[in-house]
Amino acid sequence: MRHDHLITSKQLSRADIETVLDRAAEIDADPSAVANRHANSVLGLLFFEPSTRTKMSFETAMKRLGGSVVDMGSIESSSVKKGETLADTVRVTEGYVDALVLRHPKQGSAAMAGEFVDVPLLNAGDGAGHHPTQTLLDLYTIRENAGLDDLTIGIMGDLKYGRTVHSLAYALTNFDTRQHFISPESLQLPREVVFDLHQEGGGTQIREHDSLEEILPSLDVLYVTRIQRERFPDENEYQKIAGEYQIDLETLEDARDELTVMHPLPRVDEIAPEIDDTDHAAYFEQAHNGIPVRMALLDILLENNSDADTRGETD
Ligand code: CP
Repeated sequence: MRHDHLITSKQLSRADIETVLDRAAEIDADPSAVANRHANSVLGLLFFEPSTRTKMSFETAMKRLGGSVVDMGSIESSSVKKGETLADTVRVTEGYVDALVLRHPKQGSAAMAGEFVDVPLLNAGDGAGHHPTQTLLDLYTIRENAGLDDLTIGIMGDLKYGRTVHSLAYALTNFDTRQHFISPESLQLPREVVFDLHQEGGGTQIREHDSLEEILPSLDVLYVTRIQRERFPDENEYQKIAGEYQIDLETLEDARDELTVMHPLPRVDEIAPEIDDTDHAAYFEQAHNGIPVRMALLDILLENNSDADTRGETD
């Protein structure tokens, strides 16, 4: 894998994905083998939006590789509050670190920020755009539970604003999959994403539905997402949709015994807690997979960058 920045899952080939997932599996089996691999490296965290999983798992991943982390902290406590631009923030902070992780509410912000820095920049969510590192841990979880080829997956909920959905859908076009998208009409996948998926399709089939019922029995994986309240321009529009597309044990009566239920989390009320203790539930395992997958990604990127620096010195 030889990408300086990871901005969108569109950048990832099947070989790239398998490299990261295979390295994550090795780390999962023996984390001590990489415990001091990046002892002199520093990771910078720039989170302009709330996060629990992504931020904490990147921090844990870097520390488990022997490295350290510096965190810009909240907008309120940083110079963003004084009006510093994102371009200036990344230009300054790249001088302190070996890689940057950026979450920002504006779609396209990670691509823009990447133009200003030489250290690897990882997009940890840009508005309703992409969340490619979430996708890598999603793919790891799917591979462990259902396999990535000959996969029938249902992706349900807020497909319009859900960045994890956009990134996952693109990445799955590298595999032999049938992707079923289930949402109300107002929260369907953006038309340009549907167009791209059909273009890039390869072995992938794309279908859209307004109800889970008709396709549930055929699914290997059901990927449920939260309605992204914070992205609705009008709260009344959110209230019209809120509460739809929830699942409970009754909903899953017609599902295969082997159905894997995933969710990038946080959930609000999309998955009833009664599902948590069933064999279907993989969403906490999915969140925990953020550690080996982000360790693998950082290991590969930092290793590549250090190889590039060494080549530069000898040229
Ligand atoms: N899945 C995810 O991105 O969670 P956080 O918002 O808590 O980072």
